[in-house]
Order: sequence, then C-alpha cells, then structure tokens
Amino acid sequence: MRLLRNGQTRAQHSSRHSGSSRARILWSVKHSDWGTTMLSGKRILLIVTGGIAAFKTPELIRLLRKSGAAVTPVLTRAAEEFVTPLTLSALAEEKVYSDLFDLTDEAEMGHIQLSRSADLVVVAPATADMMAKMANGLADDLASTLLLATDTPVLVAPAMNVRMWQHAATARNAAQLRADGVQFVGPADGDMACGEYGPGRMSEPSEILAAIEAMLADGPLKGRHILVTSGPTHEPIDPVRYIANRSSGAQGTALARALADLGARVTFVTGPADVPPPEGMDVVPVTTAVDMLGAVQAALPADAAVFAAAVADWRMASASDQKLKKSKDGQPVLEFAENPDILATVSQMGAGRPGLVVGFAAETNDVIENATAKRARKQCDWIVANDVSPATGIMGGSENAVTLISADDAESWPRMGKDDVARRLAARIAAELDGK
Ligand code: C5P
Repeated sequence: MRLLRNGQTRAQHSSRHSGSSRARILWSVKHSDWGTTMLSGKRILLIVTGGIAAFKTPELIRLLRKSGAAVTPVLTRAAEEFVTPLTLSALAEEKVYSDLFDLTDEAEMGHIQLSRSADLVVVAPATADMMAKMANGLADDLASTLLLATDTPVLVAPAMNVRMWQHAATARNAAQLRADGVQFVGPADGDMACGEYGPGRMSEPSEILAAIEAMLADGPLKGRHILVTSGPTHEPIDPVRYIANRSSGAQGTALARALADLGARVTFVTGPADVPPPEGMDVVPVTTAVDMLGAVQAALPADAAVFAAAVADWRMASASDQKLKKSKDGQPVLEFAENPDILATVSQMGAGRPGLVVGFAAETNDVIENATAKRARKQCDWIVANDVSPATGIMGGSENAVTLISADDAESWPRMGKDDVARRLAARIAAELDGK
C-alpha cells in the first residue's frame, strides 16, 4: 500500500477528490514525496559498464530497491574491475549477469528475454565506449547485445573524462542516441577521479533515481516528449564580459517539473539561470541564443515545445577574443547582429513541427495587444503573456499573472505562484495533446 506524506493511503486521498481535480492533485505530487515505493512492481535492467563511477552503482541499487523496484544487474567485463558481482547481487538480491555465452542462462531465459522483461534499461555508468557501441548498433558482449535487442526505453548516465565527453565523436554519438530516443541523465560538472574538472562526472544516484521515477511515472503525458527552454542567454562581448537579462529561469523550471510530474519526458534546454535545473529530466545547458537553437533542433522531434527562455535578441557581430581595453581614442562601439528567433523558427518549420508550440511574451505595456500580435507574427499556437513592468515584481519574483492567448481566445488567470501557473499550464497542455 502506498502512503502519501500525510499518512493517508492513495484510496483515502482519492476519495476526497473527483474528476480532473483529483487527477491533478495525484499527479502533481512531487515524485520523491510518494514515500518509498514509487517504483513498486517495476523491473529495472541495470547495465554497469567499466568506469570508476561504478563505485556509485551499489548506492543506486539500494535506492531503487528502497523505491520498490526489482533490479537485474548486468556487468561488462571491464565493470567487474571496478565493482564486484557479489556486491551488486547482494544488494539487488538477484543474480548478476555478465557473460553472453553462459549457456545455462541462455537456456533459462535468453538474452532477448532478459532485456524485454524489464520496464526500463538503465546504463549507469555509461562509458564513452558503450555509448559508441550503442550509437552504432554493435553487439559484442552481453550488455551491448541486450541494448541492441531491447524495445524497452533506455536511460544512460554517462561517466567519463571531460575531454572524452567533449570529443567530437562522443558528441556525435550522444546526438545519435538522443535521436534514437535514448534518454540522458547528466553528466554533471565537477571534480573527476582523474583530477580534472568539467562535465563528465556521473550524476549522483539520487538524481538517477529521480530520472528513472520520472520515466516510469504514470500520468496524462506519459509517452509524450516535451521540450522546454528556460533562463536567460549570455552573449559574449569579450572573454570576460557578456550581455544578459534578468530572467531567473524560475517559471521555465517550474513548468518543466510540472510537465514531468504529469508523466512527460522533458528535455530542458536552459541558459545560465539562477535557479537549479529540475531533476529527473534531460537537462541541456547552453550559453548563447545560437547554442540554444542548436540544442532545440537536436532535441526534436517533440509532441510539444514551450519556449520560456528570455533569449537575447542581439549578439555581438563579432565577439572579441581578447579583453577590450580602455583607449584614449574614446568609447568602444559595439556592433550587433540579430539572433535567430528560436520560437519563430520552430513554429514555422513545417515537417517535424511539434504539435503544440507555446511561446511566452514578457511585456511592459499593452500586454494583450502586443502578445496577440506576437503570436500571429511568430506563428506559435499559444502565447503566455505577462506584465513584467517593475511595479508588478514578477521578473525575479515568485508570483506571476498571465494571459493565455490562442488563435481565438485570450484567457486571463488570477495572480498566483509560478508553481501554480506551471501546473495549470501543464494541465492545459496535457488536455490539448489528449485531443490530438
Ligand atoms: O520577441 P520576444 O522576445 O518578445 O518573444 C518572446 C518569445 O519568443 C519567448 O517565448 C522566447 O522564448 C521566444 N524567443 C526565442 N528566440 C528569440 C527571441 C525570443 O525563442 N531570439
């Protein structure tokens, strides 16, 4: 029996609510608040490849078991150098598989069966080598064969040296895997076992658990992929200066979380925001508008795309690669080039356009008129308009007052917390996609 945080059972809780409000309340509870059994009845096939981050895998198994999941570990030969099958088998309380040519196991279940009986295949840690095999369909050991044979959703938690992660070959493989529908958690930035600093560190077990729970969550958006942009962009002037704006990323982050709570697979493309990115989704950090457009295009196709980022309209025509110096000849003249309009580009892309494209419009005057004209000009389906004049305290604050503008309607919502705006908008998106 699942207990909600206040000790009610799910049935007791549900009986107080009915219809859509009941659904909203159940689905909007943050996953980790469900208590300890969110994954009960789920089976995870956990593939462990040979990286030092394999030392975190026992903790991941412990958390998965605590959340109610059954875990079948599969180790590559290299992984056995970092973590013992006995440790994993003791924690999982299951047999550990490690050899493609174990005839007894072949007779018992076969490797195809092993991959298909799971609700989710998780590769943690995923080395650059395993990602390359997956991207190219190679199958030369049990782990890679299972990955090629499966029709189950796959989540990878990359772990490698920063230069390996940034190598063009790994970037190509990651893009290919994303295009194939594989989901990512991490890698994170941080100190690495090899002494370097940067992206490549495997996400913490709690973050991997959150991503697994999000992928297996039920809700009206289950099976849907939704792209969300958020935060400001930074446009470099020289190596130490940039043009930015006051967006905190709070509304986009809340929206991404609300969509994931309804069961969506969310790709979160974020500029350098003040608030930390949500857990349990594929987070793609970017800096400039041009980077953001590239990340958005790489993340498509999507069922819906929501553009909550405050994208700089202009960048430097050519950013200086050296720090600009004071000069006796007067002030520097900054020459600008126009940034791509990401929302308009995706709205007008024809084939491959997400079924629902939503923009935001931050205005300081004539909010509804300006936003209505903007929706028509950019050709998105909806615009979420808000008044960001300083007196409202909305930009950087915790509340928002929005008007949802579609082709034939303008609906003003009362002022409410950004989390509530997010939940309400996520529910509207779910209802819209349900009708498609
Ligand atoms: O034109 P304006 O910046 O007011 O439009 C705001 C909307 O357009 C937001 O949804 C924002 O994310 C999006 N936008 C964009 N790319 C730009 C400028 C704005 O996606 N270069």
